[in-house]
Amino acid sequence: MQILGIDIGGTGIKGAIVETATGVLVSDRIRIKTPLPATPEAIGITVKELVERHRWSGPIGIGFPAAIQHGIARTAANIDNSFIGLAVADFFSVQTGCAAYVANDADVAGMAEIRFGAGKGVAGVVLIVTIGTGLGTALFSSGQLLPNTELGHLLLDNGLEAEQYASEAVRIGEELQWKAWGKRFNRYLTAMEKLLWPDLIVLGGGVSKKLHKFAPLITTQAPILPALFLNQAGIVGAALFAEEKLQQGCNSPER
Ligand code: BGC
Repeated sequence: MQILGIDIGGTGIKGAIVETATGVLVSDRIRIKTPLPATPEAIGITVKELVERHRWSGPIGIGFPAAIQHGIARTAANIDNSFIGLAVADFFSVQTGCAAYVANDADVAGMAEIRFGAGKGVAGVVLIVTIGTGLGTALFSSGQLLPNTELGHLLLDNGLEAEQYASEAVRIGEELQWKAWGKRFNRYLTAMEKLLWPDLIVLGGGVSKKLHKFAPLITTQAPILPALFLNQAGIVGAALFAEEKLQQGCNSPER
């Protein structure tokens, strides 16, 4: 099945048509800068533009940077607070005229990696961390997702929230060298390991292409792999999520 996958991030909104049987992008990937302030109205217009530029009228899957409970946004760390409490799946369905299915961005990126990527066939606990404007997490046990883990907001032993200390936005904003940022990120991963004991850690987001620059600084027992889909995991996973919901017979998008 072909589905338009859209990944809404703090800096870019990206979309492509995905063949869900293979996870392959079958159209160009289009990226539009995330409007600021990232209000529902502004993001709604951008998502509609992506849909139109793909000449798409079928179902769409959306990875969204917030905890999404039954189609409703519950948090808003890197988007406008007015998203909190909004039925985002209904909202994007109305904006685009397409049936929209919405889940947390890191969760859907994880789905792509578990189905087709670095976490495929791993029996134990897999932790996926997406590194971007924020730090997103997805946790799987034997392929089953525990949704909406918001572990980028973990408080570290220095009293700082992980996402304010070791995200990609912080690396760029504070002009940190790879070594300095890698040490920070290792502090985060080792804290996570003490709490979750994953068998494998998969890193997604733009930084996953640069893993060689900071991998020597990572001291976790669990092996680290870059996301196979690199920073396209969110697009692919969003489409997979929509497909899953369609197969469950949810023609009302929000569930
Ligand atoms: C949000 C998460 C999201 C992550 C990555 C965090 O600030 O709270 O929901 O997955 O950023 O976008």
